[in-house]
Amino acid sequence: MAGYLVEDARKVTTHRLTQMKREGKKIAMLTAYDYTTAQIVDAAGMDVILVGDSASNVMAGNVTTLPITLDQMIYHAKAVVRATKRALVVCDMPFGTYQVNPTESVTNAIRIMKESHCDALKLEGGVEILDTVRKILDAGIPICGHLGLTPQSINKFGTYTVRAKEEAEAKKLVSDAHALEEAGCFAVVLEKIPAKLAAQVASELSIPVIGIGAGHQVDGQVLVVADMLGMTKGFTPKFLRRYADLATVMTDAIGQYITDVKSSDFPNDNEQY
Ligand code: KIV
Repeated sequence: MAGYLVEDARKVTTHRLTQMKREGKKIAMLTAYDYTTAQIVDAAGMDVILVGDSASNVMAGNVTTLPITLDQMIYHAKAVVRATKRALVVCDMPFGTYQVNPTESVTNAIRIMKESHCDALKLEGGVEILDTVRKILDAGIPICGHLGLTPQSINKFGTYTVRAKEEAEAKKLVSDAHALEEAGCFAVVLEKIPAKLAAQVASELSIPVIGIGAGHQVDGQVLVVADMLGMTKGFTPKFLRRYADLATVMTDAIGQYITDVKSSDFPNDNEQY
């Protein structure tokens, strides 16, 4: 395996993530939505691949995550699962599929698990969705929580700015995180909250806390693959580190191809039958 710092080539499980937290080993998580990208992400040694509903923005060009459907999430998750040998594959439940009532939510959760063969689901929200979280867990489906900036509620927030800066929201976030752990969630994602608050949650919980824009004193990090590879040019939040400039690499390569086609340089004698 050509992975980076991969000590254990066995399939990652929720149990192993808890162990990693206990041993102080950081968890690396990244999104992927298609077979080709997931193959690369998995072979690189990623611990968790998130089939995020950010596919709505990244793959379909929507302004928010709200429009993506259950069928579309299952399509993306199936492709990622087919490509993945080692990473734990977590799929987002899309907006509208777990907010109506617990029974319908369990039906939708089971559909994602049965059809995509992913390993776990991620749901946004705290005490408001606790009954649903319990019911899905009762069905034997592992759940990762998601608190802080929860993009499915963007119309309620009205802004993508940092969440839980005020004491009341911070207090609610801490109690939501505890409630998700007590219900049986295997991990919690904290998005765009003060680093000090995220550190407090990570130290109080025994399940892994994965941050995005939540500082480094948590148990792992998650980013959107297209953002960290520099494919999404206009998106420049403070928390985002760009590890490549793929937009430039791709534009240069595609431009060269156009030049070669138009100048009859491609294909040459060795590139034909
Ligand atoms: O959908 C997504 O990509 C996410 C991450 C930002 C955590 O939920």
